[in-house]
Amino acid sequence: MTPADDPTTSAGQPATTPFDPEAVALHLLTTTQAAAVACLPWVGRGDKEAADEAAVAALRSALAEVPGQGRVVIGEGEKDHAPMLYQGEELGTGTGPGWDLAVDPLEGTSYCARGVEGSIAVLAATPRGAMWGTSGWYMDKLVVGSGAAGHIDITLPVEDNLRQVASALGKQVDDLVVIVLDKPRHAELIPHIRELGASVVQIPDGDVMGSLLALVPGGGADVALGIGGSPEGVLTAVAARLLGGDMQGRLAPQSDDEAALLQADGVDADAVLTLDDLVASDQGTFVATGITSSALLRAPEAAGDAWRTRSVIVTPRHRPLFVEALVPRTGQKT
Ligand code: FBP
Repeated sequence: MTPADDPTTSAGQPATTPFDPEAVALHLLTTTQAAAVACLPWVGRGDKEAADEAAVAALRSALAEVPGQGRVVIGEGEKDHAPMLYQGEELGTGTGPGWDLAVDPLEGTSYCARGVEGSIAVLAATPRGAMWGTSGWYMDKLVVGSGAAGHIDITLPVEDNLRQVASALGKQVDDLVVIVLDKPRHAELIPHIRELGASVVQIPDGDVMGSLLALVPGGGADVALGIGGSPEGVLTAVAARLLGGDMQGRLAPQSDDEAALLQADGVDADAVLTLDDLVASDQGTFVATGITSSALLRAPEAAGDAWRTRSVIVTPRHRPLFVEALVPRTGQKT
């Protein structure tokens, strides 16, 4: 029996029903909606910690209402030393199927604090045991949509990958659009990709949303690559698996402290992580709700006593489903 097939919950109780990614999707939708709406008073207020705290508290309390026995496999805690939604935290009603959870209650904290486009509340769930977790904070990632699945190898130079992806898509390298986080660590990578002929979209933050642009048909990008957060990598992997795309990752410690942590945990930081390593099940659920607007998800808008929210759900049946929904304002100023 693989870990993904093990129906036992971490509390040692047998899970009575298997995890159903379709059934849980609407429950999880309410949690990212709650996190997004909780951030709204903080949009443009210059306080990313307060925005993040509001999102974490709202997501956590909404997750307590979701049927089943959830466990955070990778989330807020590790890189940011957050006290909630840390690795191993148990969430959900406590009865029903066991599931693993990856969370980023506010991806793009700076975007939200600065009032600019690109922040989302996002999570992903899989059957218990199917999700890869790590104490590592950063991961090198290579993400492509379904047309180039099976044509990536993170151990090869970027030129080889771009050539292979272009050929799989029936394009030239010059036609490719590549999303890369605009970070000092990519100061050589970005001009190098441009020298190879591809176009680079430099995003200051938010590589889950950046990767979605490569994974969702018509998202406008062909490849997302480079070093970002590990939780964001696992979130992306669930979406990639559900959408038929492909992804490889490799831990990329960015400090001596992080490298020491991995060493102490006996982790082989050089190991290549395939999509199957990152998510060992097709039965996942991925949900994101817009906080500030982005290419795929517009920001919530006031609609009487409610917020009109925009979310994307990805499950085995919905690949993807865009949802516009009214979320009641409870105790918020209009
Ligand atoms: P936040 O959600 O904490 O704002 O992170 C945004 C983000 O840009 C992620 O999308 C990305 O994976 C990670 O930060 C990169 O980390 P860093 O900003 O430390 O390079």
